Amino acid sequence: MDGNGRWATARELPRILGHRAGAATVRQIVEGCCEIGISALTLYAFSWENWHRPSQEVRELMELLVEFLTGELDRLRANQIRLQAMGRLDHLPPEVREQLDRVMAATASHRRMILTLALSYGGRQELVDATRKIASLVQAGRLRPEQINEGLIAQHLYLPELPDPDLLIRTSGEQRLSNFLLWQISYCELYVTPTLWPDFTKQELLEAVRAYQHRERRFGNTSAALTNGQPRPTAE
Ligand code: IPE
Ligand code: MG
Repeated sequence: MDGNGRWATARELPRILGHRAGAATVRQIVEGCCEIGISALTLYAFSWENWHRPSQEVRELMELLVEFLTGELDRLRANQIRLQAMGRLDHLPPEVREQLDRVMAATASHRRMILTLALSYGGRQELVDATRKIASLVQAGRLRPEQINEGLIAQHLYLPELPDPDLLIRTSGEQRLSNFLLWQISYCELYVTPTLWPDFTKQELLEAVRAYQHRERRFGNTSAALTNGQPRPTAE
């Protein structure tokens, strides 16, 4: 969800107002995803690297997050959306943790859509954390190194139940991944738009989904083989 700062700067507003406008977009897009039957939406809300921002901006973002979580529960209930979070959550301020825990518990039984907030999240950090867990199993003699395969690594990521994303939307025209879901996006389709996140609309969400529907996902195979119904390769 990139471009909040530029959106604000272009209007000679403080950056936090760009983040506020971005939060309004989040509401619209969550609703839009629900309406078209998307089963899982993951929002990169605060990266591990974002901790390096000026402390005032970090503080304001955390306050906005608390405000967002507090105000969102009714809407999540009404739409049967389950909220979860991924990242190094122990680094978040206690007020954010409290609200997160409250909203996650209150929405745990909802089944229409899973909304995941990537918070204090980095793809490399997730792989480091998974490696540590796996290494301790090996050290404890509960796992042999030759038993480590793709499935086992996937099981030790932050949210092993969450399916790999099919489509990644990057706003504000940046053509990079910025440490997002590095393991999970190996065959994800990318949609890059110059639109700044506060200007992103349900309409453009539909355009992104339509663009996705025209992609041919070959998973390393050939077009002809896929037409003949050959299965995609299995994980090793
Ligand atoms: C993304 O917008 C929001 C967060 C990282 C929380 P930015 O703040 O990165 O916006 P730009 O890149 O400065 O425009
Ligand atoms: Mg940015």
